[in-house]
Amino acid sequence: MPKRSSNFKKQRYVKDSQVEMTQLVLPNDTNQLGNLLGGRLMEWMDIAAAVSAQRHSNRICVTASVDHLVFHQPIRLGEVVTLRASVNRAFRSSMEVGVQVVAENQLTGNRKTANTAYFTFVAVDENNNPVNVAPLVPKTSEEKRRHREALQRRLMRLRRRKTS
Ligand SMILES: CC(C)(COP(=O)(O)OP(=O)(O)OC[C@H]1O[C@@H](n2cnc3c(N)ncnc32)[C@H](O)[C@@H]1OP(=O)(O)O)[C@@H](O)C(=O)NCCC(=O)NCCS
Repeated sequence: MPKRSSNFKKQRYVKDSQVEMTQLVLPNDTNQLGNLLGGRLMEWMDIAAAVSAQRHSNRICVTASVDHLVFHQPIRLGEVVTLRASVNRAFRSSMEVGVQVVAENQLTGNRKTANTAYFTFVAVDENNNPVNVAPLVPKTSEEKRRHREALQRRLMRLRRRKTS
């Protein structure tokens, strides 16, 4: 059972954990076809999600799992990638962070949702032991929907963890 964090706050809101990160896709980020490498995008998503979890918890957070990682469309060399991350729900020491990736072609102004995923981060102390985090209070109807659905996904993850 994770211990209570000394940084424990009574409650936090979604806006406290919101992160927006922008990257320009350069040649070193792409494959031979000029498409953004999946691994590079996952790295950026992991960083945006980690910063979000750490904003919520004021703790070092480690990636425990990633699910529903879907590459909807390729992202091209020269496009601008905007990653938005925020905590959907906090449990005890773990948090589900939703990440959405939008790619923008600055020559045409076209934007497309290229990628989405749910990351689970765990807040840890200096010895890597899990510590409890503040609960998240959803306010808007969208936040409440994500909060509700995050619980269903957690139950699925816990079931998967038990059988793996
Ligand atoms: C994440 C980690 C700290 C969890 O430690 P643990 O000893 O398994 O701790 P517990 O069993 O007490 O679980 C702690 C929390 O993690 C969650 N968790 C653990 N493994 C999980 C998984 N695979 N998916 C989702 N949540 C997971 C548990 O549900 C629990 O959540 P809760 O406190 O909100 O109920 C540990 O597994 C770890 O250090 N993993 C490596 C992390 C890492 O190196 N990431 C990449 C670099 S950041």
